[in-house]
Amino acid sequence: MTVHILISDNVAPAALEVLREAGDIRITAPGNMTREQTMAAISEADGLIIRSATTADAELLAAATRLKAIARAGVGVDNVDLAEATKRGVVVMNTPGGNTIATAEHAFGLMLALSRHIPAGHQSMLEGRWDRKSFMGVELRGKTLGIIGFGRIGQAMAKRALAFEMKVLAYDIYQISAKALAGGVEQVDLDALYARSDFVTLHATATDKTRGMINAAALAKMKKGIRLINASRGALIVDADLAEAIRNGHVAGAALDVFTTEPPAADNPLIGLPGVLHTPHLAASTSDAQVTVAVDAAQELAAGLLHGQWENVCNPDVLKK
Ligand code: MLT
Repeated sequence: MTVHILISDNVAPAALEVLREAGDIRITAPGNMTREQTMAAISEADGLIIRSATTADAELLAAATRLKAIARAGVGVDNVDLAEATKRGVVVMNTPGGNTIATAEHAFGLMLALSRHIPAGHQSMLEGRWDRKSFMGVELRGKTLGIIGFGRIGQAMAKRALAFEMKVLAYDIYQISAKALAGGVEQVDLDALYARSDFVTLHATATDKTRGMINAAALAKMKKGIRLINASRGALIVDADLAEAIRNGHVAGAALDVFTTEPPAADNPLIGLPGVLHTPHLAASTSDAQVTVAVDAAQELAAGLLHGQWENVCNPDVLKK
């Protein structure tokens, strides 16, 4: 029987090649579908491939009467209602390895840009100035980087920081393996990480425990002059609290790739605040990573729908039903 796969977001064309070769699959992939278009098409889909633009919420899942599986070409599945998917017997998978390096490289680039005022220096020259006094930076060498969330991306960040002769502290809710700590990474609790880090970088998913964790109380525990990098999820930060800590000089700067709402609301207090640099959720946007996550998502979905082989399942309870 023909399996129908809907691809509602823009994914690399390599995904289509994988699906065409995998078996009897009909593909609908107009690219960049609006919510209305996805709602109209979802009732015919057995499988769905998404990035972050599609929200697979209860309303969409209710309309998805044939849907058996969703593959997320990326890591975060906060745009999928996992509980509702489980209730409806829909398997949700992600592609955890595909954009690790892209994300770590972007976060590292943000840290360098922040420590050396690269965007502000660039902007000053565009404005016709030759100002060598206003942009005094700090070196990374010898500084302490605190990494919150020590999964694949956090570990890739640590590897790069060690190569820059930084001291690396890691916090994770799980015990970190000796292998992941190799090279001199020290596992610490959050308070120690806040107290000792010159830079803090966030690599945790948005959960009930992490949402809003970077609030006024956490920021107050950080060293004066801390610089913060976020290429994970905007929801981890309380925007108003960070903006206030930057305004009062406790936080020296922040480099943000992710926001509480995307695109950020017009009144987001961090956008345009001196000391804050931002990119529009670009961390995973390399041609290399986008091919990898698209291929991984297509392979996972085809293997699941055609052969019942499920990988990287984010709602494992669904398979117990
Ligand atoms: C991810 O969760 O994989 C990244 O944030 C990139 C994306 O949303 O596509």
